[in-house]
Amino acid sequence: MLKGKRILLIVAGGIAAFKALELVRRLRERGASVRCVLTEAGARFVTPLSLQALTEDRVYSDMFSLTDESEMGHIQLSRDADLLVVAPATANILARMAAGLADDLAATVLLATDKPVLVAPAMNVRMWTHAATAANVETLKKRGIYFIGPNDGAMACNEFGPGRMSEAEEIAAVVERMLAPAEQPLAGKRAVVTSGPTREAIDPVRYISNHSSGKQGHAIASALAALGAEVTLVSGPVAIADPPGLTTVHVDSADQMLAACLEPGRIDIAVCAAAVADWKAAKPATAKIKKKAGAAPPSLELTPNPDILATLSKAGPERPALVVGFAAETENLVANAIDKRKRKGCDWIVANDVSPATGTFGGERNTVHLISATGVEDWPTLAKGDVAMRLAGRIALHFGRPKRAEAAE
Ligand SMILES: Cc1cc2nc3c(=O)[nH]c(=O)nc-3n(C[C@H](O)[C@H](O)[C@H](O)COP(=O)(O)O)c2cc1C
Repeated sequence: MLKGKRILLIVAGGIAAFKALELVRRLRERGASVRCVLTEAGARFVTPLSLQALTEDRVYSDMFSLTDESEMGHIQLSRDADLLVVAPATANILARMAAGLADDLAATVLLATDKPVLVAPAMNVRMWTHAATAANVETLKKRGIYFIGPNDGAMACNEFGPGRMSEAEEIAAVVERMLAPAEQPLAGKRAVVTSGPTREAIDPVRYISNHSSGKQGHAIASALAALGAEVTLVSGPVAIADPPGLTTVHVDSADQMLAACLEPGRIDIAVCAAAVADWKAAKPATAKIKKKAGAAPPSLELTPNPDILATLSKAGPERPALVVGFAAETENLVANAIDKRKRKGCDWIVANDVSPATGTFGGERNTVHLISATGVEDWPTLAKGDVAMRLAGRIALHFGRPKRAEAAE
């Protein structure tokens, strides 16, 4: 989504500077090119070499470097970007920006730019709440500087409160919204996306579950939100962060997942990407089942879980206009998925091979087939984010609102 966009990332001297490395990766995997300016203090926390390796570009630090000035003057550096991002933004650099200082390359570039500037502050909670910092932030906001964070949380200095730099993923999502906001073909549409596994209790400490990581479902939720849909993500227990810019509801069991899917009321789009357990314990124990010496292992009686996909697909005035299911199979993938689409009554099925050899569960890539009433499309192996964008694009097309790129295909 950031293909062709140029970001100038200014890394100042805070503990959170290590997160700038992650930010470079998140921006580059979205297609942006990233060039870094590192302050003198910043270089105490991350090396120019790390930033250079990750950006595949030189890192600029010295205002009076003859080589840098002849190759890329400091004014050109500030203008030769679509967006300037300061991450981490220290109390010091915020003060210098507010005062209009130009006492090093970072400050000079920030003063000379005519491009939008996004800052991600990171500092000790007392520095952040200090009246001087608060006044500087207010001044900068009035001048049109964009802010993201800081977040609340535990800090490296053993204190708790606002001051943690926003996560790289959050910053990248905001950059995306700032630089690629034009196409919102799903604006006004409401969507529910399920993601991750479910956990079915056997007793208060044991459960039945599966290997779903939630990466594909979460990516689909983000992709629909990026196209303007109002998205509720219903997530089973996963180890990945809630995506920014949408509502995430956390559930454990299939029963809870179904209730959360019905909660938003009338929706236009349902994408059931969660790996819902087919069965649950018929009578979960209320106390931990004890192991008794010499006794045979207890047997586990199972009962079917509610069928979320079939429930959402049921015809009626409340049915979403488009219901998309997922079929995770280890054999006869397409045939089973075609059959599943008919049995469940959904509109489309995204079929993916989850045999261990494919590395789909927990992996970054996915090979899927999109099955609809009109046929089967075989998609190439793609990053899960790209599968998500492609699916969201198809959904926009279904509603007669093609993304420009898709319309031109
Ligand atoms: C270990 C250590 C951690 C620091 N962490 C921060 C921080 O998180 N945020 C901040 O505003 N300043 C922090 N500072 C202070 C800045 O490094 C200092 O104000 C410096 O002058 C910032 O320069 P710059 O804004 O030009 O990068 C830290 C200093 C040290 C020694």
